Amino acid sequence: MHNDLYAVVGNPISHSKSPRIHSLFARQTGEQLEYTAIQAPEDDFEGTVKGFFERGGKGLNITVPFKEQAWQLADLRTQRAERAGAANTLYKDSKGSLTADNTDGKGLVTDLMVNHGVRLAGKRLLVLGAGGAVRGVLGPILAEEPAALTIANRTLVKAEGLVSFFESVAGDTHLEACGFEQPADAFDVIINGTSASLQGDLPPVSATVIGADTVIYDMMYSLQTTTFNQWALDQGATRVFDGLGMLVEQAAESFRIWRGKTPDTRPVIEKLRNG
Ligand code: ATR
Repeated sequence: MHNDLYAVVGNPISHSKSPRIHSLFARQTGEQLEYTAIQAPEDDFEGTVKGFFERGGKGLNITVPFKEQAWQLADLRTQRAERAGAANTLYKDSKGSLTADNTDGKGLVTDLMVNHGVRLAGKRLLVLGAGGAVRGVLGPILAEEPAALTIANRTLVKAEGLVSFFESVAGDTHLEACGFEQPADAFDVIINGTSASLQGDLPPVSATVIGADTVIYDMMYSLQTTTFNQWALDQGATRVFDGLGMLVEQAAESFRIWRGKTPDTRPVIEKLRNG
């Protein structure tokens, strides 16, 4: 009998850590599966996905630049995928419908709360950025019922768009949009969801947003300290985390959806941290 087949699809894809993460999960849980990386041509994501499932593939993770296309392609979307506007997980449901989920927000929240012991309920949050990565995680963050969530972005209208989109699910959380120059007071938690560091930039927020107990979370990760986290450390922050845990936790949630088993993420995060 062949092993069940899974893969991550992106372009480029050679850097992806997902095959390693899922192989570690499979070994740990005793699941018989094979997980590969597929580089889809920029202009034929749909053909790549269809071909994979026609060959009997069981599930896909989707990464840059195809998450929005995966969302569009699906027959069904979970509520969190619907809100995220993007999908990182695809599978066929029991009736054969291509189903889209998004586990990024759950991954971020689990990493913050379970791995780092940071509660979000009642807290004042500052989220930097208003692109796809931020939209993908706002639903699960708001579900934790922070007291207030400020979305700051270079392009104000994008932050405002996210505020109007998420207003209906914000409950008692006070949601607001602003430019980077506006926030001045210290926040409980600051999440960097911009891609500024890819250009060697920092979102130009005032250092006064960082207080003595502020938790800093960069959704990016790197084996060295990220540019944003180094800036935060230089401003005196002491509780500073990067997105490696989020990467492993979003994978664990996909694995749970596909296999019905919840892997132990801590040894996997540790292995990846050590290179
Ligand atoms: P992603 O999928 O990574 O979210 P995206 O949708 O292109 O990619 O969004 C990138 C985010 O990083 C946006 O919030 C973007 O700001 P704009 O909406 O103003 O474009 C932000 N960003 C990218 N480069 C930046 C920079 N050099 N300085 C500040 N913000 C930047």
